[in-house]
Formats: sequence, C-alpha cells, structure tokens
Amino acid sequence: MKIDITKKESGSMTPESRIYVYATEMVSSYYSLLDLKNKKVLTIIGSGDQILNAYFYGAESVTGFDINTRSPFFVDLKIQAIKNLDYGVFLGFFGDTHANGNLDHNTYLKFRNSLQDNTKTFFDKIYGEATGGNIVKSEYFRDRAFLKPNISDINAYLINEDSYLKMRRILLDVGPQYIVGNIIDIAPSFLTENYDVINMSNVFNYFVGRKDERTADMLDLLKVLYKTMTPDGLLFYYSYSPTIYSEGTVPPASRPETTKRVRDLGLFEIEEKSFIGTNGVHEDKITILKKKQHDNFK
Ligand SMILES: C[S@@+](CC[C@H](N)C(=O)[O-])C[C@H]1O[C@@H](n2cnc3c(N)ncnc32)[C@H](O)[C@@H]1O
Repeated sequence: MKIDITKKESGSMTPESRIYVYATEMVSSYYSLLDLKNKKVLTIIGSGDQILNAYFYGAESVTGFDINTRSPFFVDLKIQAIKNLDYGVFLGFFGDTHANGNLDHNTYLKFRNSLQDNTKTFFDKIYGEATGGNIVKSEYFRDRAFLKPNISDINAYLINEDSYLKMRRILLDVGPQYIVGNIIDIAPSFLTENYDVINMSNVFNYFVGRKDERTADMLDLLKVLYKTMTPDGLLFYYSYSPTIYSEGTVPPASRPETTKRVRDLGLFEIEEKSFIGTNGVHEDKITILKKKQHDNFK
C-alpha cells in the first residue's frame, strides 16, 4: 500500500488518538544495530513495543513519552499481559499478525486485577461500549491490518516462548516512567535528565507533516533534545522506505536535504543504518545523531 502524505491527517496525533496495537516499524531490527546495554533510554510510548524491546535489548531504564494520554494504559495492559498470560494466549489476545488481535474480554478479566486503576477504568469503559464486539475494531484503535511483517520480526520479545519468558523475567525488576504531552512542550522539562539513547520513532514525519517550513521547528527541537543527551548519547529517528509513498511525497523530515540541515547545526555526527523494512522488500532506515561535544552550546 502506498501512502500519499498529501492526504495524511498530520493532526491525527492527539491526546485522544487511536492506539497502536503493535509498533509499525522494525523495532528489533534497529535496536539490534545499537548498543542499549545498561543505557538510559527515552522513547515514544506508542504501542509500548519501543519500550519493551528497549528493555529486552538491555536498557537499564526506559522513559516513555507520548502526546496520547491513552498510550500508558495500553503499555500497562501489555506488561501485565506478559506477566500473567502464557505466550500463546498473549498472541491470541494482541494478535500474531497486525490483523487478528481481539483483546478478548474473558482474557482481559483474567489479569484485570493486576492493572493500574486508571488502566482498568479506561478498558472497562471501552469493553462496555463495545457490548461484546471486538474492541480492536472500535474507534479506540488504529487499523494497521495492511502491515505484513511478522509480529516476531518487529518484536524480539515475541520471537518464541523463551524470548517471551525472558521479557517476563526482565519486567519483574524494571518498569517504565511515563511523560505525557507534546514533545514540543515537554522536551524543555527533560533538561535535568541525561539520556544515552533517544528513540524519536517517526515522530518528525508527523510533527513536520508535509509543511517544509516546519522543518525549522524540527531543528529547534533537536537543539533542545541535544541538551538532554549524555556526552556519548545518541538520538535516532525512523524513515520508511521511499517506495511506500506515492511518487515525490517522501515527508520533508525524511528527505536528504533535511539531513543536511541537521548536519549543518554542527551538533551531531550523523549515520544512517538501513534494514529490511515493513514492506518486507525495500529498506527502511534510522538516522542516528551522535552528540558532538560543543563548548559554545550549553
Ligand atoms: C509517531 S507515531 C507512529 C507509529 C510508530 N511508527 C510506531 O511504531 O509506533 C508513534 C507515537 O508517537 C506519538 N506522537 C506523535 N507526535 C507526537 C508529538 N508531537 N509529541 C509526542 N508524541 C507524539 C503518537 O501519539 C504515537 O503514539
């Protein structure tokens, strides 16, 4: 399927937008190209997969941020599901493809008691509204059924039962912090933190949208995020293969001229790493910004 970004609702990311059931990018492909061991990670929350896989690859601590107030509820649901459900039941509940999750109510009831109160309130409400229907098909969830990659190719924690049980063991000792808000508004509050790795997912594609002039805001945001990185820290963002977009519509944030403008800031060494993308044929990539030491920019 081709995406025409001229038709994309760039305002579709809101405090109450639809939830992603699974990540829509090749998370374990890119984390396995980075060293996350004992690192402090900041990542978008989304479906929770960027958080879970960060722990799986050895992160010491993970802080999730997201504009969507519902994202932390969904991560709580996933974490408690991992702790309480067998591997096969988890895959039945969330789906073993992007198309067949059911969040079946009876399975939910098996571990509902272990959820945080606000998570229970949220899910009780949407199960109530669905009156027995599949809540994944409701207005609360994003339909990504067209995505073909195996769920286990996206998520290292779902490769097999062993990896799932490893994830469960890790989650006995750790748990994410959440910061809810628009990255523009919340980034300045990160200034007291020092992150080794910042995963921006493809937020810039939404943030800049198709308005070239908003690239300047992306650059301003990168200057703020630079200050939150440890001296050896890195920040990266995701770009889908140009082949998934209608011709000529690659989003400005993913264009080479934008990478050049990022380089011209003088704050980062830039490296791009590619891997088989979500369409299974063409390559997606992450653009990695490694912090340069810069005495004049404090
Ligand atoms: C960029 S979206 C796209 C999905 C992504 N490719 C994935 O695999 O999850 C991921 C998350 O970023 C969040 N997001 C988008 N724009 C944001 C912003 N300006 N500030 C904070 N979070 C944002 C969305 O709410 C969503 O949960």
